[in-house]
Amino acid sequence: MADKLMRAVLYDSYGGGAAALKHVDVPIPSPKKDEVLLKLEASSINPVDWKIQKGMLRPFLPRKFPFIPVSDVAGEVVGVGSGVKNFKEGDKVVAMLNVLSGGGFAEYATASESLTVKRPSEVPPPDGAGLPVAGLTALQMLTRAVGIKFDGSGKRANVLVTAASGGVGHYAVQLAKLGDLHVTATCGARNIELVKSLGADEVVDYKTTEAGTFLNFVCKKLMWSKKQLVPLVLSPKAENLDFLVQLVKDGKLKTVVDSKYPLSKAEDAWAKIMDGHATGKVIVEMC
Ligand SMILES: NC(=O)c1ccc[n+]([C@@H]2O[C@H](COP(=O)([O-])OP(=O)(O)OC[C@H]3O[C@@H](n4cnc5c(N)ncnc54)[C@H](OP(=O)(O)O)[C@@H]3O)[C@@H](O)[C@H]2O)c1
Repeated sequence: MADKLMRAVLYDSYGGGAAALKHVDVPIPSPKKDEVLLKLEASSINPVDWKIQKGMLRPFLPRKFPFIPVSDVAGEVVGVGSGVKNFKEGDKVVAMLNVLSGGGFAEYATASESLTVKRPSEVPPPDGAGLPVAGLTALQMLTRAVGIKFDGSGKRANVLVTAASGGVGHYAVQLAKLGDLHVTATCGARNIELVKSLGADEVVDYKTTEAGTFLNFVCKKLMWSKKQLVPLVLSPKAENLDFLVQLVKDGKLKTVVDSKYPLSKAEDAWAKIMDGHATGKVIVEMC
């Protein structure tokens, strides 16, 4: 397929936001030895995607221009590298693309076999595409910071999920409840019912004085406790991604979709995520 062209959306310098995204035709990439070639069905955008464009991760990302952004995708395997063992053409999958090379704003993308998992028919492309960065962040945060267990053997800790209506937060609330934790959540007034419906025990509107006082109290408690604040750097693993996909399949975890856009309107999806007020995930479909 290497001589064929595909539609893609890219940027070729730092900054410029949604207006700097360009619609182009570029060659379909070829999978390396340990990669699969995916015909993409849906991608989801994360705040880190616009932060990379803004230059907040320079000089590391993007590695070079022009850059096709976005790492979280769902699609179908249409080609496999010579060393790929676990996938064949026709498999439906969820994948996290290499953040160094991006590629999710396109009709086709290559993904490492090691960060690709099978997607059962019960998991529609948008629901799968929402999972990688946001779902894995929520899961790893709860695993590393709280030691969450999903087999009933964990201690019944209290957790505070801020921005519980966002991409990471809405998964965190649901996962915390699956691990039998007590969840206090913050979100805007318009999303209180949604966050309660995801399982939160207490929900505080972050714009109220009550929330300010509460968060002040939590920060002071943390400052004077012996606990350390540890920054989370996502370390993606296929087994964790597969765990999340299975939860969605079993109806135990859901992806709240804020909005869906066709690839031809990818800039509108980009503007939506930059605005910082998405409820759940912003999805781009390759239709
Ligand atoms: N370290 C890592 O590996 C990692 C991984 C993933 C994400 N992150 C970071 O985590 C943050 C959240 O990511 P995300 O994907 O969840 O973002 P997001 O989906 O864009 O979050 C948007 C949501 O946050 C809510 N919100 C905004 N300000 C709030 C506040 N002060 N209190 C409570 N809720 C608030 C908004 O509600 P309203 O519309 O009502 O304002 C909206 O529903 C981002 O900064 C992202 O870069 C880090």
